[in-house]
Amino acid sequence: MCGIIGCAGRGDDTLDVLLSGLEGLEYRGYDSAGVALANGDLSVCKREGEIQRLQQAVGSDLDGPVGIGHTRWSTHGPPSDQNAHPHTDCAGDVAVVHNGIVENYADLRAELTDRGHEFESETDTEVVPHLIEEELADGKDFEDAFRAAVGRLEGSYALAAVTRGSEAILATRRDSPLVVGVGDDAAYLASDVPAFLDYTDRVVYLEDGEFARLESGSWTVTDAEGRLLEKSVSRVEWDAEETAKSGYDHYMLKEIHEQPRALRKCLRGRVDELTGTVDVESLAGLNPSSVQFVACGTSYHAALFGAQALREAGVHAQAFLASEYATSPAPVTDDTLVVGITQSGETADTLAALREAHRRGVETLAMTNVVGSTAARECDRELMIRAGPEIGVAATKTFSSQVVAANLLSAAIAERSDGREVVEALRDLPGQVQELLDSSRAKQVAREFVDSEGYFFLGRGYHHPVALEGALKLKEITYKHAEGFPAGELKHGPLALVTEETPVFAVVTGAGEKATKTVGNVKEVEARDAPVVAVTDGASDVKRYADAVLEVPETHPRVAPVLANVQLQLVAYHVADELGRSIDKPRNLAKSVTVE
Ligand code: F6R
Repeated sequence: MCGIIGCAGRGDDTLDVLLSGLEGLEYRGYDSAGVALANGDLSVCKREGEIQRLQQAVGSDLDGPVGIGHTRWSTHGPPSDQNAHPHTDCAGDVAVVHNGIVENYADLRAELTDRGHEFESETDTEVVPHLIEEELADGKDFEDAFRAAVGRLEGSYALAAVTRGSEAILATRRDSPLVVGVGDDAAYLASDVPAFLDYTDRVVYLEDGEFARLESGSWTVTDAEGRLLEKSVSRVEWDAEETAKSGYDHYMLKEIHEQPRALRKCLRGRVDELTGTVDVESLAGLNPSSVQFVACGTSYHAALFGAQALREAGVHAQAFLASEYATSPAPVTDDTLVVGITQSGETADTLAALREAHRRGVETLAMTNVVGSTAARECDRELMIRAGPEIGVAATKTFSSQVVAANLLSAAIAERSDGREVVEALRDLPGQVQELLDSSRAKQVAREFVDSEGYFFLGRGYHHPVALEGALKLKEITYKHAEGFPAGELKHGPLALVTEETPVFAVVTGAGEKATKTVGNVKEVEARDAPVVAVTDGASDVKRYADAVLEVPETHPRVAPVLANVQLQLVAYHVADELGRSIDKPRNLAKSVTVE
């Protein structure tokens, strides 16, 4: 949510670096964007709307050796030129970009207004440059003024500031990510690594309460009192190619097609096919008596899967929506493990739930895609899903990798009699996903049902999370109404909504009791004349009641959800494409939600 970029030491192309960095961050917010460049002077340009509008608006007067930029996802004040960042002080000498929420901004604004400051926006952020302005007027230098202003803030923030007459960028963070990029001659700053990956893969992760100073190719990190800190420089494994569209129309489609590779990476070196065992170093010695998963959105659906897999193996396990867990935590014992599933590792709700668990003294594990993310750093253990960068706002490949990682976690915690079969199924999974991608009829199905007003998704057991995820994907990128249900629940109410205008996607694999029961539920909707799309491996007789079929290869029940879900990702994608939606940047959404 909101993206920050900064660059010091590039010379003439600072503006280009900022603008291309903002493009790389657009998935974090796209309501408005802006840049500020400083040298002897300070110039600011900002526009409501997508980055292209800013690119058209920037003039030749915008230059300087240091600059900051921002792409916004609105929290305080609607999208507008005025509310776009950077925000400046009364004199236009200080420019600030900010992610997060300044919780005490109303008090600060009232105080500053009383002292004669004039505000141009409705944002919480604008108090920051005015606070810095006062500290500068008191005789402090830029760095001391920045530190003093930050000391007045309550809430969460990643902040960066530049000022007229200085060639430094100052930055700090609390509960919002910020990373320094170390180039040969230049230093970079961003809320997310892809923003500067074209220029460097060497990074320094800032911790809460730390301050960074970037100047013409040099950087330092200090603590709140200004003491110099020794920070290690790490190398990120992602490369710039992975964050490009590579010929696909949308990142989402590219990422759907990257799944075979992502899954191979997730499994590499972690499973022994001969013994059927799982060996993940970071999970060694885990032996919890109960497991609580906390997650949001798509990651919550993976958590539902993980909890079910563990319960089936005899371990007490539950999945909680992180936003609820933080306010109403479930009881824990000394050997409870709390697992946060979070692609970004930065979702505020999930971090709050993990911190609550930490506060209560239980062991925490971050299952995440982002090395060095807040969740990875704050938890006792980490399980990287290794899906590679995901730019499309709608999560696709990361869900598949989370389900696979949840299988690894379950195997590491509880030995099961079918361990070898699961490992074999996981080994075959990347190839099966490829097979499915090559042959899917999802595009035809999407065309057939594109005009429907509502869509339902049914699944039982491990396919319940798939039904929820299928519906979430469809609604977030098509803006159509969609609901997912446990198959058996439909008759307890939602069936009233089923008509001949509402396609029902039924996920049924295998031929056991669960499948038979779900086929029974399919008959109930078919009897109400609803069109049925069966997502199936053909083992049951569900096809007899279906108007269309999306085939998935046969596999183990704990792996089948990944395959079924890929078909539903493609359906959502193609419906959205038919409707001409903004697939990679759906309205009102942002990739990483860093406010509670
Ligand atoms: C949906 C989607 C969101 C995220 C949710 C959690 O496609 O992407 O629902 O899954 O915001 O994000 P992470 O996994 O980064 O914690």
